[in-house]
Amino acid sequence: MFKILKKEEIAPSTFFFEVEAPFVARRIKAGQFIVLRIDEKGERIPLSYCGADPERGVINLIVQSVGKTSQKLNDMKEGDAILDLVGPLGKETEIEKYGTCVLLGGGFGAGAIIPIAKALRAAGNHVVSIVGAREKSLLVMEKDVEAASDEIKVTTNDGSYGMKGMVTDALSQILADRKVDFILGIGPVPMMKAISDMTKPYGIKTMVSLNSVMVDGTGMCGSCRVTVGGETKFACVDGPDFDGHQVDYDELSKRLKMFEAYEKLAYEAYLEHRGRCASEKRSDR
Ligand SMILES: Cc1cc2nc3c(=O)[nH]c(=O)nc-3n(C[C@H](O)[C@H](O)[C@H](O)COP(=O)(O)OP(=O)(O)OC[C@H]3O[C@@H](n4cnc5c(N)ncnc54)[C@H](O)[C@@H]3O)c2cc1C
Ligand code: FES
Repeated sequence: MFKILKKEEIAPSTFFFEVEAPFVARRIKAGQFIVLRIDEKGERIPLSYCGADPERGVINLIVQSVGKTSQKLNDMKEGDAILDLVGPLGKETEIEKYGTCVLLGGGFGAGAIIPIAKALRAAGNHVVSIVGAREKSLLVMEKDVEAASDEIKVTTNDGSYGMKGMVTDALSQILADRKVDFILGIGPVPMMKAISDMTKPYGIKTMVSLNSVMVDGTGMCGSCRVTVGGETKFACVDGPDFDGHQVDYDELSKRLKMFEAYEKLAYEAYLEHRGRCASEKRSDR
């Protein structure tokens, strides 16, 4: 069992967790992820880590509620325990001395770029991080990203904080201003596609961390299949980082929507169950 030591709401429907997982905390590297299962009947979901403290044996996660399992996890309390947590999974990000690196994080990606920023800096790179959200209240982990990077740029679509626009607008300014040697994006598929389209004419090495649907995380089930450079890859074992200029984003988007109808039903049933339990508890008082 993996105990939740700390839970904090950092944006609407988005929580930061500190989870006791000593084995994973000692071994996990920048760019890798874990797969967890809340209880015996639960589905497995992949999550990036945004920090680890090997001495205390804890890992940090950020979870956005998008469906049944992420919501169920975000409904858990400090002191509760997660049944299974497997990791580290996937390949670590290729850390080299590139020169100037730009890391872009949207949504939970803002947390996921933190270990990567730290590793790239430790390898002697100058790291510029760009984090963005639709509006100020949805922005997460700004201070931690800032501490992990040499520079930070913040964007909001509505201009309520930082630069008005999207992370790609900030990237376009940087590309016009200076030489960039390495780029990595983590976030929604349209964001990763836009970054890759933007950097292709410059010939800059651009990696994206693919969020394909995963089940076992070990290359056995095939659910995370993606096409990269015309070849079939499994995001869980061959990735999650891939060359952004080679990814078939249309296929990835379609595969992410494959189970939409079932996911919607499961989420609605869970919300109804949760509402019923809450009203039963109130009437018991
Ligand atoms: C390597 C990796 C790292 C990830 N890291 C994080 C993280 O740090 N924090 C976080 O909140 N989420 C992360 N995700 C996404 C997370 O796994 C999904 O949000 C989760 O599986 C959704 O499960 P659910 O039952 O709540 O929703 P479901 O009901 O299964 O799905 C709801 C909707 O979410 C979308 N979705 C489903 N599965 C995924 C998926 N694997 N990736 C993206 N969108 C999905 C689909 O559009 C779907 O319609 C990561 C995904 C991958 C592959
Ligand atoms: S998640 Fe099963 S093969 Fe990748």
